Amino acid sequence: MDNAVRHYLQVADLDRESLLALIDRAIELKRMHKEGQSYMPATGKVLGMLFEKASTRTRISFEAAMFQLGGSVSFMAKRDLQLDRGEPLKDTARVLSRYLDCLVVRTYGQNIVEELAKWSDIPVINGLTDSHHPCQILSDIMTVIENKGRDLSALKVAWVGDGNNMAQSWIQAAARIGFPLYLACPDGYHPDEEILKNAQQESKFPLEVVSDPVEAVQDADVVNTDVWASMGQEQEAEQRKKVFMPYQVNYELLKKAKPDCIVLHCLPAYRGQEITDDVLEGSQSVAWDQAENKMHLHKAVLEWAMRLKD
Ligand code: CP
Ligand code: NVA
Repeated sequence: MDNAVRHYLQVADLDRESLLALIDRAIELKRMHKEGQSYMPATGKVLGMLFEKASTRTRISFEAAMFQLGGSVSFMAKRDLQLDRGEPLKDTARVLSRYLDCLVVRTYGQNIVEELAKWSDIPVINGLTDSHHPCQILSDIMTVIENKGRDLSALKVAWVGDGNNMAQSWIQAAARIGFPLYLACPDGYHPDEEILKNAQQESKFPLEVVSDPVEAVQDADVVNTDVWASMGQEQEAEQRKKVFMPYQVNYELLKKAKPDCIVLHCLPAYRGQEITDDVLEGSQSVAWDQAENKMHLHKAVLEWAMRLKD
């Protein structure tokens, strides 16, 4: 039997079957929740949430997920911990492992979640770093499956905007799960070269970065965007607005996609920047379902990571 601690730091940590199993389980847990079924396999367990950046959805959906599973949550803003006064990550990880059953971390560098995982006896889950947002991508793909069915390889997925953490998680998911992905990013704002190269080598489907948003969106089934300035890039926001304006997802651009294409945004959204208000509020937007699905998907991740079903 495999006793390894089940960390989830980036999409590429898991194989295709495991990723799809998490999504399938989230769909099942969503159904159970809608039917009012109580399912509390985490009774007596404690989830730690160590956050160094703001969060509405990831924080509250993980908390609600853990509470609904019967467990408890300890939320830790980094500024309140000794970590912020210089206590090493490796000491923090070993101590938290003695109290908690699982740890969700939102921070800046991917090296921070890697270091915590290295020293942790409990699963460490990446709740967003500058490089990856691996749980978000699974709830996004769950939302795509709900709207477009399970044959993802038949879909054209487009990403328009910054080559950021979300884009990089989409890149890894496209390669690992298997679907065509076209990203339109301005020069200087492309995804990480190594993440892209590794994914392109792995992918059996087109996986391309182009500069023209129309090329990426042409005949797309799924159109995605995200903020132009991510957390930590606030001082670049004004400069980025100028560069990214041609990459706005508006109805003019959506005319190029398939008429029944869906529009995804992980939120928070800045209306009038990366997406127009009418598109976000329009009938093709699935952003609110995406946000809901985070809770169901996080239940599946917690159940898997803490081996609640094994
Ligand atoms: N989508 C997402 O991660 O939102 P939060 O920053 O509110 O957690
Ligand atoms: N790219 C965004 C995603 C927020 C959920 C950020 O990192 O701020």
